[in-house]
Amino acid sequence: MSEPTVAVLTEDRVSYSRTRFEEEAPAIGLRTRFLHPQHFDLLVDPRLPKAYYRSRLLGPPAVFMARTGSETTAFAGAIIKQMEAAPGVEVINTRDAIMRSRDKLLAHQTLAQAGVPFPRTVLARQPADLAKMVRMVGGPPVILKLISGTHGRGVMLGRDLESIEATLETIWALNETLLIQEYMSAHAGSDIRVIVVGGRALAAMRRTAKLGRFRANVHQGADVEKLQMDERMEWLALRATEAMGLDVAGVDLVEGADGYSVIEVNSAPGFEGFEHATGVNVAREMLRYAAFRIGL
Ligand SMILES: Nc1ncnc2c1ncn2[C@@H]1O[C@H](COP(=O)(O)OP(=O)(O)O)[C@@H](O)[C@H]1O
Ligand SMILES: [Mg+2]
Repeated sequence: MSEPTVAVLTEDRVSYSRTRFEEEAPAIGLRTRFLHPQHFDLLVDPRLPKAYYRSRLLGPPAVFMARTGSETTAFAGAIIKQMEAAPGVEVINTRDAIMRSRDKLLAHQTLAQAGVPFPRTVLARQPADLAKMVRMVGGPPVILKLISGTHGRGVMLGRDLESIEATLETIWALNETLLIQEYMSAHAGSDIRVIVVGGRALAAMRRTAKLGRFRANVHQGADVEKLQMDERMEWLALRATEAMGLDVAGVDLVEGADGYSVIEVNSAPGFEGFEHATGVNVAREMLRYAAFRIGL
């Protein structure tokens, strides 16, 4: 009998995580297959929903792992939804959970409803009284964020009212929506990443931005190091992940005067830096969780 298949939906044709999944799968008794959203066709039918991949009927995988993350398009979302409806397929990170975490407006509202602390945030379309909004979040300075940004792109530091105003006017001219957020400066230029898999926080790492920068994304050249995970970090990461409805997540925390707050919950965390910094075998943990979901 052949091993159960974990189908990974991803836009990456080569990536560290792909290689790592391929390395770890055999020892767990799983097979991996990598699928790109662009090669799918979906037959939407109440009795016989079908998915075609490269024009051939896709046999239902045991596990469908959606790793499109913040790049999840409406179509990729539809693929995931279709898999949720397929009998016998375990979907890791549902379409709704991914979409919730991907949209920074919805994500913040979800955290608020779940009582998870996050920096004071104004969802701004075109506030009449900008100075007041900026003061409401304790600035200037403030953080300005595009709702759909990722990898640190679309996150800006507004140092004074005049530059904040100029930035906002530019963004609004492009018809974009922006968050105005409290700048958490207790540990400026660094943040904390916790990876959660199946209700367990694996470890924590600190990411430190390049000198003089404030965005601690690995894509922005941040350095990573292992951090002792304390109870508060763990609780926040688990709570935020649960609020989003995610099975697997990378939760980002920043520190303010009153402690940690959650700034982002990523549905498809990369783990190259995390594995190197913490020594945790993230690929194996994710696949073991996939195996657990199918009772292996
Ligand atoms: N409110 C904040 N206070 C301080 N730094 C922040 C804040 N929000 C974001 N940052 C910094 O900017 C980086 C990117 O922000 P994030 O919200 O995670 O967006 P992205 O989706 O682009 O990763 C964070 O990793 C953090 O270093
Ligand atoms: Mg982030």
